[in-house]
Amino acid sequence: MSDKKFASGRFFLKDTVRKQINFSQTAQSLGQDGPPLQKPWPPDAFVIELPDGSKALQHLAGMPVGEAMVRRESIRQYQNIALTLEELSALLWATQGVKQVISADTALRTVPSAGARHSFETYLAVNRVGNLPSGLYRYLPFDGKLAQLNIDTKIGRRAAMACFGQGFIAASAVTFFWTAIPARMEWRYDLAAHKVIAIDAGHVGQNLYLACEGIGAGCCAVAAYDQQACDELLAVDGEEEFVIYLAAVGKK
Ligand SMILES: Cc1cc2nc3c(=O)[nH]c(=O)nc-3n(C[C@H](O)[C@H](O)[C@H](O)COP(=O)(O)O)c2cc1C
Repeated sequence: MSDKKFASGRFFLKDTVRKQINFSQTAQSLGQDGPPLQKPWPPDAFVIELPDGSKALQHLAGMPVGEAMVRRESIRQYQNIALTLEELSALLWATQGVKQVISADTALRTVPSAGARHSFETYLAVNRVGNLPSGLYRYLPFDGKLAQLNIDTKIGRRAAMACFGQGFIAASAVTFFWTAIPARMEWRYDLAAHKVIAIDAGHVGQNLYLACEGIGAGCCAVAAYDQQACDELLAVDGEEEFVIYLAAVGKK
């Protein structure tokens, strides 16, 4: 198909742009400070200590990785059973856990990321997790904590409505929303940042699928969502930070 309407999308998928970038002039090469590796949380937010995510994952998800891969599938029906806080911590660590802080600019996580830039923040629409009140939370991977952003008994339905009424989201125990903060990647890769952010999102999603299998849960990735409605749900500005991907999770 030679239809011009696909041209910009196909260009995005290629790496043609790399040869047009003067890498000696990127923000990183010019010595500018990179954006923070973790978005600061609101000073008035209630902050919840999570059980150690690495230990939780290894303790709870003992299934061989090959078996998890064989079993992995998208699950859209969930039991009305809560996840424990330990299970949630295991899933958060599998998807974005920080393994090693190398410097003020660089940390290594459980998922790979181009240039170790890790452009994502994780928001949670919590319906049924331990004793957590339903509402919106944000993972603080460098602190092993959750910031409670608001309490909202209708968060599940609101999340589903922001995804064109996909009902399984409302029935999930928790729905993970990943936002991108593109400046983290642009600082190093300039115009070549955007494709690799999209690639990185896939790693996060797959780790969630595999870790869910390990804890007897299931998830379903979602890329069909209303951009503006999801950004508003999370109260992000839609330019410097915006939703890129999400996944509903619940017990099988
Ligand atoms: C990037 C991506 C976006 C997806 N978006 C949705 C979605 O919006 N709604 C949905 O019900 N399933 C969605 N899915 C799940 C796919 O429909 C599912 O992976 C596919 O049907 C194959 O089934 P399986 O995952 O069980 O192998 C998405 C999956 C991926 C990887």
